[in-house]
Amino acid sequence: MEVIIRPTADAAAELTAQIIKKTVATRPNLVLGLATGGTMETVYDKLAREHKENNLDFSLTRTFNLDEYIGLPPEDKNSYRYYMNKNLFSRINIDLRNTHLPNGMAENYTAESEKYEQLIKDNGGIDLQLLGIGRSGHIGFNEPLSALQSRTREKALTPVTYEQNSIYFVPPESMPKRAFTMGIGTILDARRIVLLATGEAKAEIISKAVEGPVTSMISASALQLHPKTTVIVDEAASKNLKEKEYYRWLFDNEPEWEEYKG
Ligand code: PGA
Repeated sequence: MEVIIRPTADAAAELTAQIIKKTVATRPNLVLGLATGGTMETVYDKLAREHKENNLDFSLTRTFNLDEYIGLPPEDKNSYRYYMNKNLFSRINIDLRNTHLPNGMAENYTAESEKYEQLIKDNGGIDLQLLGIGRSGHIGFNEPLSALQSRTREKALTPVTYEQNSIYFVPPESMPKRAFTMGIGTILDARRIVLLATGEAKAEIISKAVEGPVTSMISASALQLHPKTTVIVDEAASKNLKEKEYYRWLFDNEPEWEEYKG
């Protein structure tokens, strides 16, 4: 795992978008794992701008989202399919047939989960997985106690997640209490992972996930097992990290980051 601290939330999102841009540009038929949530909106704005202003080409890109609420149809404004169409897919030249999310309306949870896993495999696996982190430490909707080798399945959401996400629902109680999510094992199979977290509300969970022990109580800590994960945070989210100076030194000195310094 490597940790990159950028001065602002916008600069952290910009670095994330630039990594995605470079990967899409060098590998047109990339399999890209996508995330939802407030943090990602800025990243998707920036990718939409790259498409519009610099012709970033998504025509062959294939995408798999982490999760979807159970019981919400695609046209529901709170479904993640709706979120993805609105925030990204309708603003770039992606073929919607190449974009995948679990079907929130599927009645057979096991069959839907297995189908999703198979589809990822059939596409050759995920090249680059984008992640946010919830205040519960979840990646996707892998809430505390999720098995570190779990695969796509349906999960009950925790009260912390309910509190974090129900603000988007009218009324808040209409938020589903279950979701389909890729498992931690599914996520760890991605060839490269980039996790973006911004704002002080994420400072505590980021320090636990990055510098604490690997534990199923904090799903994101499993990323410590992954060979190529980059955690990008802004100053606010880095507040509780003990080894900040080391992380800054890495960004300043690792040749890999040279091309991202503008
Ligand atoms: P957020 O959600 O970007 O809205 O904070 C992240 C998450 O819950 O994974």
